[in-house]
Amino acid sequence: MDSLINEIKSAQSSAELEELRIKALGKKGILTSQFALLKNLDEEEKKGKAKELNQLKGEFEREWMLKKEIIATEELHKKLLEEKVDMTLFTPSKGVGSAHPVMITMERIVDYFVSLNFAIKSGPLIEDDFHNFEALNLPKYHPARDMQDTFYFKDGMLLRTHTSPVQIRTMEKETPPIRMICPGAVFRRDYDLTHTPMFHQVEGLVVEEEGKVSFANLKYILEDFLRFMFGEVQVRFRTSFFPFTEPSAEVDISCIFCHGKGCRVCSHTGWLEVLGCGLVDENVFKAVGYKNVSGYAFGLGVERFAMLIHAVSDLRAFFESDLRVLEQFR
Ligand code: PHE
Repeated sequence: MDSLINEIKSAQSSAELEELRIKALGKKGILTSQFALLKNLDEEEKKGKAKELNQLKGEFEREWMLKKEIIATEELHKKLLEEKVDMTLFTPSKGVGSAHPVMITMERIVDYFVSLNFAIKSGPLIEDDFHNFEALNLPKYHPARDMQDTFYFKDGMLLRTHTSPVQIRTMEKETPPIRMICPGAVFRRDYDLTHTPMFHQVEGLVVEEEGKVSFANLKYILEDFLRFMFGEVQVRFRTSFFPFTEPSAEVDISCIFCHGKGCRVCSHTGWLEVLGCGLVDENVFKAVGYKNVSGYAFGLGVERFAMLIHAVSDLRAFFESDLRVLEQFR
């Protein structure tokens, strides 16, 4: 019996322990066979022996249960250790997210103008006709509205087609001098290689006392800005038309891919159009009740800048949420 207890104490696994239980109390077990022998004894002897055997059995079971619990705890501990997941393990392949390439470009543009003390303004994406068109010298049925077809709501509201309405909203609220930019989303009914129904613009507006700003100021700041964005490029101003500026210009940079020699990206012209600008039209100042002021404004498409900077040929790649594409801009 003592050796049985010792065997229990040195058992290593629940399987070993189970073998011991069978060895003692199984059908042919040591204790079981001793109990079987009781029937051959006379009454007196039987009583004494039965008591003794029951004590031994009780001792065995107590030791056995005790050991069983210890082994169960040990085995559970071992299992948990084997199956545990180390949450602190470094897995370089997953990595963290990053800003979207369009937002990275937008931030760089904003950084430039903030460094020159331009304030950042914003306005609603759902605009009324007055702020998006009328006040910008685009009366109803003006043919220039065709270039900016948009999405209309039943109540006459519309998704803004450019950030220019924020010029109007800022001038309505503030008095000159004004020096602002407005980065934000705009919407047009467009969809092809270089146009998506939603894209981003950065608008700029400077208004001063009459005579204090000229086209020369506008030209200087935009040339400096474009070199900040694209490096040492040539900059060219081409006369153009916008209802809200007069005179108006479109601005080109020498092609950053062929350096002006002519390639597919610049349609073999050597130039890339990158923004629109001009001196603020008198009718715009009239619409907001400004007198004796002069100013300039400009507007640019952020996606266009991002496409050129990262040499992306299909704008839609920015909006398809394909991680294989987006991860390249970390
Ligand atoms: N709002 C014009 C556009 O979306 C850009 C622009 C802004 C042009 C300001 C001139 C001055 O095309």
